[in-house]
Amino acid sequence: MTRSSRVIGAEHVSMAQRAGKQALEIMAGDIVTGLARETAERLGIRLLDGPLERPAIAKTDGSSQMMRGLYRRSPHWIGPKKPRPLGAARRLAKLGLIGAGGVGANIAHLAANGDMADEIALVDIVPGLAQSVAMDLNHASGISGSKTRASGGMALSGIAGSEVVIVTAGRARSPGMSRSDLIDINARVIRSAAEAIISHAPDAIVIVVTNPLDEMTFEMLRSTGLPREKVLGMAGTLDSSRFRNALARAAKVHPSDVEAITLGSHGDEMAPIVSKAKIKGRPVSDYLSQAEIDACVRDAVTGGGQVVALRKTGSATLAPAHASIELVDHIRGAKAGAVPVSVMLEGEYGISGVVLGVPCHLGARGVVAIEEMTLPPGEMAALKAAADAIRKRLGG
Ligand code: 2OP
Repeated sequence: MTRSSRVIGAEHVSMAQRAGKQALEIMAGDIVTGLARETAERLGIRLLDGPLERPAIAKTDGSSQMMRGLYRRSPHWIGPKKPRPLGAARRLAKLGLIGAGGVGANIAHLAANGDMADEIALVDIVPGLAQSVAMDLNHASGISGSKTRASGGMALSGIAGSEVVIVTAGRARSPGMSRSDLIDINARVIRSAAEAIISHAPDAIVIVVTNPLDEMTFEMLRSTGLPREKVLGMAGTLDSSRFRNALARAAKVHPSDVEAITLGSHGDEMAPIVSKAKIKGRPVSDYLSQAEIDACVRDAVTGGGQVVALRKTGSATLAPAHASIELVDHIRGAKAGAVPVSVMLEGEYGISGVVLGVPCHLGARGVVAIEEMTLPPGEMAALKAAADAIRKRLGG
């Protein structure tokens, strides 16, 4: 059957943009007006030769279904308290990185040096960037001895078959910007990453690093339709590391002497959990005054912004890369115990329908359990306030 050709005008491009699309499919024989091309350029909509590959239907496995059933049965289910015993760490067959900027490149470096994956595939829309990072890494293997093969390119299909995909692509903050100023710009990036993940790596566990973190993790979950245990936002491991660093410096101890986590949002409503923080196994108040503790909390909340202010263009890269690798290590069984992850809540902590940083146990299938800590009323209120603020930014 022959199809009649269409005239694609500016209104088709605008409609595609309003529908949240990144691209418009142009079939053989279609006529594209000059104004349509100009509008597409202005709105950042790509005109792609069709027919396009359609996203596969999101698959879930029996274990994900069981896990969802478990969560539903008891919203107040308490996760395992004891860390699971460590088995042998698994090497990933393939790690996909969407975004090869500062954070993506450093994740690739750490993963290659740690021999965490047989293959690392980097993708970036900046011509030559992902390819150059991959080449640079491969050049280092003669010294590092890393067995990881790195590849890079502009096509999102490069992530095909990845077991874990980490998304760092998107605009970073400039001085004076808050993370939430990036919602509209970066939601489009997340939607195109989601489309690629569903088409090319539908079984992957997805780690979102793009800001604003909690909102972008929500967008990834919505756009992929993946079960919540497979879509994780990386923020808590980074913020907790900043909090531990601040406490260690104030108390003049080594960071490894400090246990502390932050929950809540990756933004102004971050909730550093002082009540559970310990220095050499003792409450932080044994080492620090209330004013010093308050300064450490402020340091954790503003740490990312402090780096942005110094760099002028772009945000932190090294600590976010380490914090992302921390999640990969938990997924591949190299580390165990609860780590703070932004995840969709369905009744845990009395909160539902919003992505928020809470302690999670991770494994080969993503989130294995959400740990519900008993928090004092002030910290519980901070967590709920973070949930309300994120919900409001997402338009309720
Ligand atoms: C940070 O806090 C990039 O949001 C990230 O540094």
